[in-house]
Amino acid sequence: MTASTTAEKLAELRAKLELAKEPGGEAAAAKRDKRGIPSARARIHALLDPGSFLEIGALARTPGDPNALFGDGVVTGHGTINGRPVGVFSHDQSVFGGSVGEMFGRKVARLMEWVAMVGCPIIGINDSGGARIQDAVTSLAWYAELGRRHELLSGAVPQISIILGKCAGGAVYSPIQTDLVVAVRDQGYMFVTGPDVIKDVTGEDVTLDELGGADHQARYGNIHQVVDSEKDAFAYVRDFLEFLPPNTFDDAPIINPGLEPEITPHDLELDSIVPDADNTAYDMHEILLRIFDDGDFLDVAAQAGQAMITGFARVDGRPVGVVANQPMYMSGAIDNEASDKAARFVRFCDSFNVPLVFVVDTPGFLPGVEQEKNGIIKRGGRFLYAVVEADVPKVTITIRKSYGGAYAVMGSKQLTADLNFAWPTARIAVIGAEGAAQLLMKRFPDPKAPEVQKIRADFIEGYNLNMAIPYIAAERGFIDAVIEPHKTRLLLRKSLKLLRDKQIQRVQRKHGLIPI
Ligand code: HXC
Repeated sequence: MTASTTAEKLAELRAKLELAKEPGGEAAAAKRDKRGIPSARARIHALLDPGSFLEIGALARTPGDPNALFGDGVVTGHGTINGRPVGVFSHDQSVFGGSVGEMFGRKVARLMEWVAMVGCPIIGINDSGGARIQDAVTSLAWYAELGRRHELLSGAVPQISIILGKCAGGAVYSPIQTDLVVAVRDQGYMFVTGPDVIKDVTGEDVTLDELGGADHQARYGNIHQVVDSEKDAFAYVRDFLEFLPPNTFDDAPIINPGLEPEITPHDLELDSIVPDADNTAYDMHEILLRIFDDGDFLDVAAQAGQAMITGFARVDGRPVGVVANQPMYMSGAIDNEASDKAARFVRFCDSFNVPLVFVVDTPGFLPGVEQEKNGIIKRGGRFLYAVVEADVPKVTITIRKSYGGAYAVMGSKQLTADLNFAWPTARIAVIGAEGAAQLLMKRFPDPKAPEVQKIRADFIEGYNLNMAIPYIAAERGFIDAVIEPHKTRLLLRKSLKLLRDKQIQRVQRKHGLIPI
């Protein structure tokens, strides 16, 4: 029936909008409700500031297809997070499994154009089987088109992905192009092909969880933050964005500058935080909570490469990216995962002009056959490359061990850190005393003989007193100042203020080749 009167036209609109609310129909909505999953729209409302969502394209559907459903499997639009604009899309599981069809592609592509135009972050809520099987090459073409647009946005505006369901094919290749992938444990899964397809093709049996579970994928480096609920995922993304500018040309918000301008009791606690014994671990977070503003630290990629901590803090109200070793985990030795995690974080901070602070206590790169087989040369090299490439202000604080190649990559002056401070507890050397003693012992026919053991003990003591100290580096200008720990927080404040207008001129070239 064609509407002719105004009242009929309004009624027609209301009917269409009603249909568009649950385009998959009652059965699909009931199936979703039974699984306890919120609708695509409810998820957007939970993410954004209340009442801020402006939906675009609710009535879009595949032209010429009598079975086409409103929305085409995705809800898109705009809103705000903490008062700042964002673009958002959310896969609608109840419409063809949230898979990508033509209008889906057009809606998300338009959103990507919009965020480039206004210079704001884009957030994708993913719950999709990937390319729509019945739409054949059209869906592939649109996924490829979205891939092109992700590349254009990369480094221009923050791109964030939240994984809330079983995501396959393009629904993982699209998120992996983004800056941050957050997934909900026991709910968000990522794989190129699911367990059934793998069984068909290779005969391998693998559980859904082992293949694509959030914790597993975090260990493989594809998910950067695992959380326990959708609510936690949205809260994490909201916090994360507070540390970032809306685009690479604008500034991040400044929050509570000027707090605690004098030395505090918390600062003084730093003077006794490093254990006397070299091999005693401590939680690096205890230091991080004291050297930045008001104990605010947001771990990024907490589940991956746990010997390295990466995260955001504030110095005098302005965000910084922190790369710190964690002595509680493998003594802080840098393995492949830790190296990748740090390299990625450094590049991300650099792309949005967030200054970097390195906090160092590591015995070096982790030795081992597995590490070598899995590419510690290339992956450690990638970290090194990323540190040099980053031209944001860089400040390094050496707390304790800084041995071997780890000295170089953890913000050494030679790899272009701007200011390098060391605590008097710092040990800067090629290797640790025990390792050096081990090499020396090889010269003796009977290393276990008491007199040789005495030589060993004397050597270790002498090495630690005279060699593995901060002063040799300070004499050569590799360390700018050896400082009392309690001065660190205010010194960081002063340093980053002085570096605020740092600029590096580089020779024009197309691009370098990071070790990949
Ligand atoms: C069309 C799809 C779909 C898809 C799921 N559905 N995936 N429809 N195209 N790709 C539909 C199902 O038919 C079903 O519809 C509903 O969504 C829910 O799917 P189920 O299989 O019942 O759910 P579940 O058991 O939870 O399994 C989810 C899944 C599985 C693991 C994602 O559906 C799956 O393996 N789907 C295919 C994944 C895939 O191979 N995608 C193409 C990848 S290639 P009904 O009506 O029954 O509820 C690709 C190329 C990208 O993406 C190119 C990038 C450049």
